[in-house]
Amino acid sequence: MIVLGIETSCDETGLAVYDSDKQTLLADALYSQIELHAHYGGVVPELASRDHIKKLRPLTEQVLRDARLKLRDINAVAYTSTPGLFGALMVGASYAKALAYILDIPSIGVHHLEGHLMAAFLGNQVRQVAYPFVALLISGGHTQLVAVKAFGQYETLGESMDDAAGEAFDKTAKLLGLPYPGGPNLAKLATRGRAAKFFFTRPMCDRPGLDFSFSGLKTAVMNAWQSSEQTEQDKADIAYAFEDAVVDTVITKCQRAMVQTNFQQLVIAGGVSANQHLRLALNRMSEKHDWDVIFPPLKYCTDNGVMIAIAGSHRLHAGKADISNHILVEARRKLDA
Ligand code: KG4
Ligand code: ZN
Repeated sequence: MIVLGIETSCDETGLAVYDSDKQTLLADALYSQIELHAHYGGVVPELASRDHIKKLRPLTEQVLRDARLKLRDINAVAYTSTPGLFGALMVGASYAKALAYILDIPSIGVHHLEGHLMAAFLGNQVRQVAYPFVALLISGGHTQLVAVKAFGQYETLGESMDDAAGEAFDKTAKLLGLPYPGGPNLAKLATRGRAAKFFFTRPMCDRPGLDFSFSGLKTAVMNAWQSSEQTEQDKADIAYAFEDAVVDTVITKCQRAMVQTNFQQLVIAGGVSANQHLRLALNRMSEKHDWDVIFPPLKYCTDNGVMIAIAGSHRLHAGKADISNHILVEARRKLDA
């Protein structure tokens, strides 16, 4: 089956065409709204919705052209139905439902985090993903450890009580005066930082459990920055110490989750999984304990249409697709709800 995937939950319009029988990606296209929102220092929901409307049609035409297919060759349309910005989700869902209606094919609502998870199943993995596994979903909206027993069977083991890790990166970057998008810019600055000068406490690591809390870190960063000489080197050193605290915390919790479940595979997904410091630390952990740690290809760590096409294909084949004709989008919904 040929599945068209549509991602519009936030500030990226992602389209992809996926052949679910051959498990092959035929084409994908991504338009990032970074420039549109940079001026405001963060995503403006109304502008995001309007821009998705502008980009959906040309990007659909582009992926069909690249895949050498016609619209009528599409057998199903998968779209992100939750969680995300309500208006942005509505744009993608309405477009998907309209396409499905005129082509008389199913449309499949996909949970954005299930999409991120499915990106790890994309080809060229050294080791193949196999159930059961622990998933670390680490993005701008979520930080969660999930026991994935089979496709669609999720049990949340722990999650952030306040800010998501990506959100902490973004807010801390803003505090240090770095441009939007904060996370990647802070990570870039951290590569010039030195280890010795600043240290931030690893939140919630001194007590048992798998929950996270990242909101206190930004206050610690603000205090450190204000009491420093505020040189460029101080800024880089603080960025390094912040990233180190996040990475260390995440590693501690991942280790605990692996021991608790006794699973052998850890799958990392979501925007922050693009962070090189985190990837290195997780690889070190995997070697030490002989666990498999699997990342999606770098390109598909952040939001994209491919992950939605793959998750939609899995849902369709597993008979778990919601193919009702209602436009169902929800700004918030837990993966294991
Ligand atoms: O998954 P994603 O594209 O969107 C959400 O579903 O939230 O993740 C975006 C988040 C942002 O908070 C961004 O700052 C963060 O991922 N991010 C990073 C890096 N690349 C993206 N954070 C740290 N280091 C990176 N290299
Ligand atoms: Zn995402």
